Amino acid sequence: MGQEPRGVWKSKLGFILAASGSAIGLGNIVFFSANAYRFGAGAFYIPYLIALFVLGIPVMMLELGVGHHYRRAFPEAMYMAAGVKGEWVGWFGLLNAAVITMYYITILAWVLGTLIGAFGSLWQASAVPAFGLEAGTLSNSMSYFFNMISRYDTVFYVLIVWLLNGIVVWWGTKSIERVVKVFVPLMWLFMIVLIVRGLTLENGSNGLYLLFTPDFEVMKNPQVWQGAFSQIFFTLSLGFGIMATYASYLPKDSDQTSNAFTISFLNCSFEFIAGIAIFALLFCFAIVPNASTLSMTFFVIPEGLGAFPVGVKLFGILFYTLLLTAGLTSSVSLVEALGSGVIDRFGLRRRPVVIIVCILGAIGSVIFALPKVIDPTLANDGTLGLTLLDLFDHWAFSYGLLICGFLECVFVGWVLGADKLRKSINKTSRYQLNISFDIMIKYVIPIVILVILGYAINTEASDGGVYGHDFVMGEQSNMHILVLVSWIIFTVGGALILTGIAAQKRKKKASALVDGGAGN
Ligand code: TRP
Repeated sequence: MGQEPRGVWKSKLGFILAASGSAIGLGNIVFFSANAYRFGAGAFYIPYLIALFVLGIPVMMLELGVGHHYRRAFPEAMYMAAGVKGEWVGWFGLLNAAVITMYYITILAWVLGTLIGAFGSLWQASAVPAFGLEAGTLSNSMSYFFNMISRYDTVFYVLIVWLLNGIVVWWGTKSIERVVKVFVPLMWLFMIVLIVRGLTLENGSNGLYLLFTPDFEVMKNPQVWQGAFSQIFFTLSLGFGIMATYASYLPKDSDQTSNAFTISFLNCSFEFIAGIAIFALLFCFAIVPNASTLSMTFFVIPEGLGAFPVGVKLFGILFYTLLLTAGLTSSVSLVEALGSGVIDRFGLRRRPVVIIVCILGAIGSVIFALPKVIDPTLANDGTLGLTLLDLFDHWAFSYGLLICGFLECVFVGWVLGADKLRKSINKTSRYQLNISFDIMIKYVIPIVILVILGYAINTEASDGGVYGHDFVMGEQSNMHILVLVSWIIFTVGGALILTGIAAQKRKKKASALVDGGAGN
């Protein structure tokens, strides 16, 4: 069984579209606005921009540089860079991202369900039998959503979304490149239509005012900083092992500093204009977004769209199509990174790996979508409450991404040596990195992340959740601890197992070589 050839991007544009397609997702369109609102709107921009320059761009260079230098998917590249422990970091990042992908795809399945509703029923009052609520008790979008998630149709939507993911990565870079060439430009087009609509609404520009008026008081709150840091990692697809994998398909002479700037710039400008569009939409109808990102996606925005003077259906369909395509070009990147990690490390063939990744992933997403799992004690204030999805998000998003970023910096910075990586990046880059890159990777970023994580754990133990919930350890602590333990087993344990199997394989290969050599 020969190794299949590794993928290559046909053009630089293909890579940029794929990488920015990965970065631009639900994070840009809805999570950013929800986070910005929760953390004081205008106040959020400053920590966000600081996070972009201090953490985002350097770590983006690190991931692109590592993938490009070793030309292998993340775990193997990390093995080559920093040995067995480095490989463990690689798998940990991918498995943590796999947890995120599972519920991200559940959310995408709900987006698909809402898109179907946007053709009609989303805008009409309906009863919510599952909660014993009559028509008109909740807003239309809320009742539509609770109706949808309390039925098993969502399982079907989940399968469709996973199938789409499987199809897009079936031919690797070839099929990904084809898809992003069509859909990423379309996403920009849709967004521009939405922003023009938002700003031309009466009072639409009031949202802008709120979004861009800084509130320095809020910045004293460390939670705002953790929110901004996690948001930067998530939105740039960092700490997922995705950028390293995508960069490993680039030609030898490609320029990673300029790639890092281009991808970050495209992503953050999309995020800004999405923020403007959504704030405009909400503020002209005086809708106050609830803190939860899910309520933003499924209640608040449809309420805003539903209040349009004309074109409710059209803009509803447009918006949910935008979300679905943006989400798909993100989720495929992780399926590719995970699949490619396994293919590169274990020398397996692509097709069976893709099938297995999709089946296991779909099982996870179905669990998040099962009606029984969704908040059984639905609060009447429009928040989804503490669901399984929220709890996993709490660990994988607010902690996992930052932990992975920390470990990447420590292993690449100290074990491989930040200067070695810098020299490799500089060899093919027009813009030359200097020693401040090393200082960022070795000292600044790890220390900043540690401080934030230390603070977060402290808050966790004393006055409750960090990620948007007034949640105190002790209440419902069984579920909280169960989720924490399963997250640790899946990521830490799973990475140990995969690293172990890889080591075993290496040993066998080495001893086969020795035996073979002795025979000659
Ligand atoms: N950057 C994406 C966003 O902003 C998140 C993302 C990228 C993602 N790749 C992913 C989420 C893979 C889940 C799976 O939305």
